[in-house]
Amino acid sequence: MLIRNATLPDGRTGINLLVRDGRFAAIGPVQDGVAGEPGEPELDAAGWLLSPPFVDAHFHMDATLSYGLPRINASGTLLEGIALWGELKPLLTAEAIAERALQYCDWAIARGLLAIRTHVDVCDERLLAVDALLQVRERMKPWLDLQLVAFPQDGVLRTPHALQTLQRALDKGVDVVGGIPHFERTSDHGAESVKLLCEIAAARGLRVDMHCDESDDPLSRHIETLAFHAQRLGLQGRVTGSHLTSMHSMDNYYVSKLIPLIAESGVHAVANPLINITLQGRHDSYPKRRGMTRVPELMAGGVNVAFGHDCVMDPWYALGSGDMLEVAQMGLHVAQMTSQAQMRACFDAVTVNAARVLGLEGYGLEVGCHADAVLLQARTPAEAIRLRAARLAVMRRGEVVARQAPAASVLDLGGRRAQVDWTLAR
Ligand code: FE2
Repeated sequence: MLIRNATLPDGRTGINLLVRDGRFAAIGPVQDGVAGEPGEPELDAAGWLLSPPFVDAHFHMDATLSYGLPRINASGTLLEGIALWGELKPLLTAEAIAERALQYCDWAIARGLLAIRTHVDVCDERLLAVDALLQVRERMKPWLDLQLVAFPQDGVLRTPHALQTLQRALDKGVDVVGGIPHFERTSDHGAESVKLLCEIAAARGLRVDMHCDESDDPLSRHIETLAFHAQRLGLQGRVTGSHLTSMHSMDNYYVSKLIPLIAESGVHAVANPLINITLQGRHDSYPKRRGMTRVPELMAGGVNVAFGHDCVMDPWYALGSGDMLEVAQMGLHVAQMTSQAQMRACFDAVTVNAARVLGLEGYGLEVGCHADAVLLQARTPAEAIRLRAARLAVMRRGEVVARQAPAASVLDLGGRRAQVDWTLAR
């Protein structure tokens, strides 16, 4: 198969991509001889933007699409969401979790979102959600990479049996070690949980991704401990701090020491802009803190930063549809990343940077990579974010797995007819 006449995120135009055995075999302009065999199937990109697929670095697939079960989160706060999840847990069945997760996977694929790291709560001794999502991971493998994180939602030290159930989840094949140090009983317990969980990951050769400092408390500093143990245990590049919202409220002098430590230890940062702009600052009157971590400063300090969706229609968040361009758009606004380079960086935060967090093999528009891509009705990454562009085609291993009609409206203004598609003609 040949993809013809694509624009790439780096700005190259008129690019052909030749696919062989599910991987890109050649990428370049037709004058460099990148062309298909006679009669070979073609996808005409018509000059639109071809991107590697979207990647969600942080999600909760065991809770997704459960909005309203058993009741709605009235206050909209993180703590009521956690309490509500506690009410829902005894009512869950593996079948219902799998059914909702599979529905979400369909939504994701249609949006060009082909890799998701999902946390899965391991505090339930039955491990229903783990079993359900392990099945979903296998079933969706041809179309979507699902990476599971063993997430002790109620605290690994605070909850009886949580350490054992977490280890059992890892034995069953869960990919990544999770944690939630700021939710342990004391700061000391939080630090102890970070050390313990990083050691488990190192012993098992696994990655780490912790909910870390998801708080407005400027003294919530578990990210420092996480970076320290990542370095101590040789886990550079394999550890992620998710949320890191307390960094928003921290003292600037302390942050000037912290960001170099995070960078040195090769810890990835994941911000979840849709969720944290709604959950943080809830104890404030005015001025009200935004509560997203310091994205441009972390990027400038050499830290790999990705954005996650975190929630879609669950106890914590009533909205969402698996659209990582919506996530990028909110991240751009909350972090005030409005320059051309920064808008591009927000697009990277839901594509290449997120792929680095997951450690995806063969990701990208390079020769030898998997022929996975999404064709967007936009000319540039910034335009894709502005329009939350239609996914004209989604490709997995060289096969088109989803198509969407171009977004357009037909006007009839007193006899003047026009078609509007909101892109700028070049
Ligand atoms: Fe989360």
